[in-house]
Order: sequence, then C-alpha cells, then structure tokens
Amino acid sequence: MAFVRPMVPFEMVVFGGSGDLAMRKLYPALYHLHREKRLHNKGSIIGVARQEMARADFIEKARTACIEADGDSFEQDAWDAFSKRLDYVAFDALSAESYSVLESKLSKQSDNARVFYLSTSPDLYGAICCNLKKCGLTTKQTRVVLEKPVGYDLPSAQKINKEICQYFKEQQIFRIDHYLGKETVQNLKVLRFGNALFEPLWNAKAIKHVQITVAEEVGIDGRASYYENAGAMKDMIQNHLLQLLCIVAMEPPGDKSQDAIRDEKLKVLKSLRPIDPVNVSDFVVSGQYTAGAIKDKSCTGYRQEEGVDPKSDRETFVALKAQIDNWRWSGVPFFLRTGKRMGEKVSEIVIEYRSVPHSIFDPSAGELLNNKLIVRLQPNEGIKLILMAKMPGTGMDLQPVSLNLNFSEAFKGRKPGAYERLLMDVIRGIPSLFMRGDEIEASWGWVDQIMKGWKINSVTPLPYAAGSWGPEDSKSLIERYGFHWQENERL
Ligand code: BG6
Repeated sequence: MAFVRPMVPFEMVVFGGSGDLAMRKLYPALYHLHREKRLHNKGSIIGVARQEMARADFIEKARTACIEADGDSFEQDAWDAFSKRLDYVAFDALSAESYSVLESKLSKQSDNARVFYLSTSPDLYGAICCNLKKCGLTTKQTRVVLEKPVGYDLPSAQKINKEICQYFKEQQIFRIDHYLGKETVQNLKVLRFGNALFEPLWNAKAIKHVQITVAEEVGIDGRASYYENAGAMKDMIQNHLLQLLCIVAMEPPGDKSQDAIRDEKLKVLKSLRPIDPVNVSDFVVSGQYTAGAIKDKSCTGYRQEEGVDPKSDRETFVALKAQIDNWRWSGVPFFLRTGKRMGEKVSEIVIEYRSVPHSIFDPSAGELLNNKLIVRLQPNEGIKLILMAKMPGTGMDLQPVSLNLNFSEAFKGRKPGAYERLLMDVIRGIPSLFMRGDEIEASWGWVDQIMKGWKINSVTPLPYAAGSWGPEDSKSLIERYGFHWQENERL
C-alpha cells in the first residue's frame, strides 16, 4: 500500500497574490488539494499585493480563476469551504507597516509550516526576505518559495542567492521550476532508474542523439512586460529545458538524501560544453513569430501583441545544440528547442539509438531505421518505443512500428497538476524537487555565454510564421549534424 504522509498545519502567504500566476496556477492547485482532502484543516492562505481589494473581491477573483481552470468539474460546495481559508492584504513590500499588518494575520503557532511564496519581480526577493526577518515574521518552520526566473543572468542570480542566504538556510529556500513537478517528468526518473531495461543502453555507446522539444501554441498571454525582458532563453531554456536535459543525462543518485538528485543534476550542468560567444550562430538559432495561423485560427505577430515594442528583438523561439562533456555522453549531441505560437502544443524527449552493427537483410527488404524512444511529457503523456518489424506476408518487408504506453489509459483518474505536487512538498518541507542555488547559477553561467554571443554578434531573431515549427535555420541546425526534428518523421 502507498505510504501516506501526515498532513501538516500551514499558513501560506502569496506575494504577488492578485497576479497572473497566483490566479492561474496557485489558487486552483490549492483548491484541488483542499477538494481532495489533502490539506490540513488548519491551513490558511493569504494573498498580498499592492492593489487595494476587499477580501470578498479577492475571493471572487480567485473563484473565477478556479472555474476557468476547472470548467465543468468545478464544485461550488468545495469552493465555499475552501474560500474560508482565504484572506487578502493590500501590501507594500518595502514598508515595515505592511509587515506588521501581515503579522497580525498569522497564527501564533510556531509549529505551523509558514510558507512565503514570492511571485513578484526577482528584484524584490532580497528586500522581502530581509523584511520578513527584520519584522519578526519568520519561524523555524518558515520556507520561502522563489518563482522563476531567479535573476536575469549569473551576477543577478548570485546576488539574489547571496542576499536570501543571509536570512534563510538553503533547506528553507524552494526555487520552483514547475516542470520538475510534472507527473511525466517524475516518471522519466522511474523509467530510467526503476527498470533494468534502459540503463545499460543509456549512454554514448547506444545512443546517437537526443532532442528535447517544448513547443507551445500559446503566445505571451498578456504578459508583454515580463516577456519583453525575458524571451524564450530566460523564460524556458535556462530553467525548464535545462532541467529536462539534466534528468535525461544525470547519473543514478548515490543515496536517497534530499540533495542526491540535485547533486547529480549539478554535475550535468557543469559538464555542459560552454558555447563560444564568437561562434554562437553555429550552435543556436533564435526566432520571433510573425502573423500566421494555428489550426486555422489566425494569430497576430509578436510585435503586434499588446504592450510589445513594435520593433522588439525579443526571441520567442530558440533551438540549440548542446554537448555534455563526460564519459557517458561524449559525442552525443543534445538538441533543445522551444517556441511560442508553434504548430502544435507538444513537449517530448526523443532518444535515437545507434544503428545495428551489420544488417543481415537483403536491401530489398527496406531500410533498417534506428530505434527511438519517445517520452511524451504533454499532451497525451506516454512512452513510445519505435522498433523495426517484418510486415505480414510471404516476402521480407521491414517497417518501423511503435510500442505505445499511454499513461491516461494505463492509470485512470485525475492526475494532479505540477503545482499541486510542488506546493505539498513545500508545506511538508521537502526540497528535492526544487532547484538549488548552485544549479541555478550553473545554468545561468551557461546561458549567459549564448546571450553574450548574441550581443557581440548583434544577432536578431529570425522571423517565423505563427503555426510553423520555427525559422528554417532551426531545421538546418539539426540537419547539419545529420538529424531531423521529430515532427518531420511522425509515425
Ligand atoms: C512558464 C513560462 O514557466 O512555463 C511560460 O513562463 C510557459 O511562458 C509555461 O508558457 C509553460 O508551462 P506548461 O506547463 O504549460 O508547459
């Protein structure tokens, strides 16, 4: 029987509590946890933000967000009970007075998990943590959650880490990357380390190349002010895609401690071959979407989005070739790609195996294609193994066929969203699925070289039509090395 962890009484304060992330992800996740009776009865949630708002209006706003997230499965009764946990405080993160109002709302139970979720600009992280400490709002059970991006380059990330570590121990700091909470990303670890089958074939001797794609149909979803500063490199590559790469490439953890997996991920990041800024265009392609159509629905270009500079050079697409310089992966290229307004929403990892050493079949039987393992993270989560088989008949006709494992067919029922899993871990004080300060710094260090290359070479993103798979140069990038992006080869 599965081990059920005891529930922990908690109070959670969400800074940026009326913002987009809180409304779209955090409150719906907490509401689901409540509905499924996974939250302790003694658990309260306080949204804090600059905006003046009555508690009732805040609750109504959060309710609308949860209805949007849930559609028909929204349950009003469960919501009514959940909403009793909610409160709101209009807040100035730099004023001591705000902290004393907030303190008066917190319980005097020092054993409660006290979670401060910082969903604000990273520039405020240091000041908020300093004020929380100075104004006496922290307890031994305090955890602080930092939304990504932590900083905007290596020096800023180092500055934030240094500031925050003055007030909290590393085990109290939860730097969130919601991809690490996705069921399928968790499953990737089980695929690798819970099955004897794959590990002997998980190295440069057996694998020819790896590609990781996170393609989105959505554009910037009204987040122009954030996205104009971030772009695909800071928004997706520095965190989600590099974390996926780490989980594919890491060694088996040496023990079961909270840090074991994070130690292994860090080693991967440190083994990434630095991209020489001078030759950045040999390894990295950036793009920006122009007007187009996705599934027959027309979309405007990035520069026409509300709040975007009509001359903006912000990239909404990145494709790159990475190399991991260690024994396991020497010589195996890893291609990463992410973009907004692409032809299809799909996140998947494709692992191509090497060819058989010698074919025993007559060439007339057809080409022996390499085996592929495709891990589909979303949507239609599952695993597909592409094998060669003989077509039924009297001759010898070889064709690729796929062995499919579809997770929603194999495991019925609602799957918890990434934030549900991660928020539970924060409340329980389990940091292993969160990024450590050194991981963040290592990934910024690698990404900074690319951004430096863009700057010194005055690289501007190449246009691609919304609904396409990015600029043509992204195809040439992978084809230069003799490979193809997976969408060109769907079975
Ligand atoms: C967020 C990015 O971290 O991840 C967004 O800021 C992106 O720009 C989102 O759309 C993608 O997450 P998911 O879970 O929808 O793949």
